[in-house]
Amino acid sequence: MKFFVDTAVVDEIRTALSWGILDGVTTNPTLVAKTGRRFEDVKREILALVKGPVSLEVTKMDFAGMMEQAHALAAEGPQVVVKVPLTKEGIQACKALSDEGIRTNVTLCFSANQALLAAKAGATYISPFVGRLDDISEDGMLLIGDILQVYRNYGFQTQVLAASIRHPVHVLQAAKLGAHVCTVPFKVLEQLFNHPLTDRGNEQFLKDWAKVPGQA
Ligand code: G3P
Repeated sequence: MKFFVDTAVVDEIRTALSWGILDGVTTNPTLVAKTGRRFEDVKREILALVKGPVSLEVTKMDFAGMMEQAHALAAEGPQVVVKVPLTKEGIQACKALSDEGIRTNVTLCFSANQALLAAKAGATYISPFVGRLDDISEDGMLLIGDILQVYRNYGFQTQVLAASIRHPVHVLQAAKLGAHVCTVPFKVLEQLFNHPLTDRGNEQFLKDWAKVPGQA
């Protein structure tokens, strides 16, 4: 499973890259707004750092406007993946961009039928929002399994990108189901490292090492 970090905070991306486990980045308008910085600056810095796929989202909701933004974003670098919403216009743009060889990430997916539309339109990635389904008392992970099954049935190449991840168990469940990608908030990525037995074991090893003659 590929790991993307779901953030627009450049320091978080830099740190995750330094761990050697990061494959790409996803952003959205909310994540960019949270930084309090200009999108132009955030985008330039992220693209200078990250060689893997970087999802940048369009904010125009009409087809022509979306296509104009998508072309401008795609021109920023070969790693740019254009994120479009799962609307009629978004799917239309996805198809047109895919025909042009521009990679897309179809976002705000909440059903397997929506995911089927995105795959038929040639989406590179589909982003089902697991946490937001959990928030309304649905089981978001069931959707990941359903989409994988539907895509397998027809050999679609669209990659399932588990999004709206809220905790480490979501990451494990996505991996067990075989999601191609999981986009993980920085805090959750950090949590994946933690285990109290690792800390305790390491502490003991260091204490014992200090007892080895000549090592104190
Ligand atoms: O990038 C889209 C997605 O991951 C948003 O997550 O936590 O706002 O539902 P969340």
